[in-house]
Amino acid sequence: MEGAALTRRGLLVGIGAVGGAGAMYAAMGALGLAPSEQDKAFTPPRPGDFTLRGRAAASVVILGAGVAGLTAAYELGKAGYDCTVLEARAEAGGRNLTLRGGDRLTELRGPAQEVRFGEGVYFNAGPGRIAPWMVTLDYCRELGIPIETFVNRNAAAYVHTNGQTLRARTAQADMYGYVAELLAKATDLGALDKMITKDDRERLLDFLRRFGDLGPKLEYEGSERRGFTEFPAIGAGTPITAPGSLHQVLAAGTGHAITNDFGYDQATPMFQPVGGMDAIVTKLVEAVGADRIRTGARVTKITTLADGVEVTYTGGTLKADYCIAALPPHLLARIPHNLGAEVAAALRTPVPVPAGKIGLEYGTRWWELEDRIYGGVTETDLDITHIWYPSYGYHSERGLLVGYYNTDENAELYAALTPDDRRRRALTQGKKIHGEKYRQNVLSSASIAWERQEHIEGGWVRWPSVDSSFTLLQRPAGRVYFAGDWLTHLIAWQAGAMESARGVVTELHERVLRSP
Ligand code: PHE
Repeated sequence: MEGAALTRRGLLVGIGAVGGAGAMYAAMGALGLAPSEQDKAFTPPRPGDFTLRGRAAASVVILGAGVAGLTAAYELGKAGYDCTVLEARAEAGGRNLTLRGGDRLTELRGPAQEVRFGEGVYFNAGPGRIAPWMVTLDYCRELGIPIETFVNRNAAAYVHTNGQTLRARTAQADMYGYVAELLAKATDLGALDKMITKDDRERLLDFLRRFGDLGPKLEYEGSERRGFTEFPAIGAGTPITAPGSLHQVLAAGTGHAITNDFGYDQATPMFQPVGGMDAIVTKLVEAVGADRIRTGARVTKITTLADGVEVTYTGGTLKADYCIAALPPHLLARIPHNLGAEVAAALRTPVPVPAGKIGLEYGTRWWELEDRIYGGVTETDLDITHIWYPSYGYHSERGLLVGYYNTDENAELYAALTPDDRRRRALTQGKKIHGEKYRQNVLSSASIAWERQEHIEGGWVRWPSVDSSFTLLQRPAGRVYFAGDWLTHLIAWQAGAMESARGVVTELHERVLRSP
């Protein structure tokens, strides 16, 4: 089971086209990634570590003020390391980007957008949700960032598949109902007798009755779980009419949508910082010291030397004892360096994944008022993929929903459009679910195509296969260390960036303490 659990973590997002969990585990086994080598408890470096060993904190130049770079600077700073962070963009944060009224979003090969959201309205254009087990929440606690629930699952949200729109609760009731019925009947007919004892058979039947809300004859005949057109009050309410046949329910293809939050990383409850995800950036920058971060500093050359590193950037040349390169691999790959051919090839291995989102601001929160949807996600098989309803600002006047959050071809399709056309298309798609009101009272919008963000150029990366490039880059090349979510099994999560930074900080610190 240990192995199976590990395989699940195996770059689910980050590795495309793998032959299932088995192949994955085999690959990881081949790389020597045994469970015992996984994360040890992290101890931040302390100033006292040096007094005991007669060493001094070193200087470190960190490339990239994204979540990995900032976390590294923050942790090293605790022991008095002299860190300088070089950031090519105008602001720190990387993909942790929250857009508000007054912001300006530029784009490669596309026009800039002026963000016009109203007071208090924000759009997490990058990361938006945090699972409770993730280290991200530890940083929120440590940095004093208040968090609140992010509603990732909402029975009242919709599932839109094969041209049909259902409430999530309805789709789930029907699918569970029929699955339970089938299994209950098979059990009842003795089809499982070779596999389970008589007692277990009773226990299973008992569970299946609950699971599917089955009738006395083990039949699924609908359930109040499906929801009501009029909810019970003084009267008993009006349940939604009986479900379609098993065939119809299967043909609706809601399976993916109703199991979306079954994963260890998507299960409810999830969390978000109050007021916007970029609170994490703000607090990290504050803790690191804004004066240690040079923005608009694009790195043009990385040289590892016997006694240090030399980094050339648009503002000059910096020498330091060590370097932590916390840029996306596809950008690092373009920077001239002397780290060797193997490193160069490894950096070229991961492939950027296009990802996009649009924030649609409305003058009324019709999803709360009319649809009774308070947060959560509507799953669709349209090119918008998801609609996210806001998990903040309930009952306030205006509100912002995420009108698409998609990747790969769908993201590319929207990226190729002008911001106006992206909005139009998103509204046309959303109308299929919510009706004409979806296109009315839209106050403003902003859309991001991550592969067109300068100095980022992707939502995240995908490793074509688990090969030695991945492990090679987890090791330093001379005095240059690599950090980022792309070097972990938590690709596309801030937690990956943070865990990676912690790992590098630990190794670098140990090296400094050991060095003559
Ligand atoms: N972390 C991102 C999200 O929550 C991307 C992601 C999606 C990662 C699904 C893993 C699984 O949307």
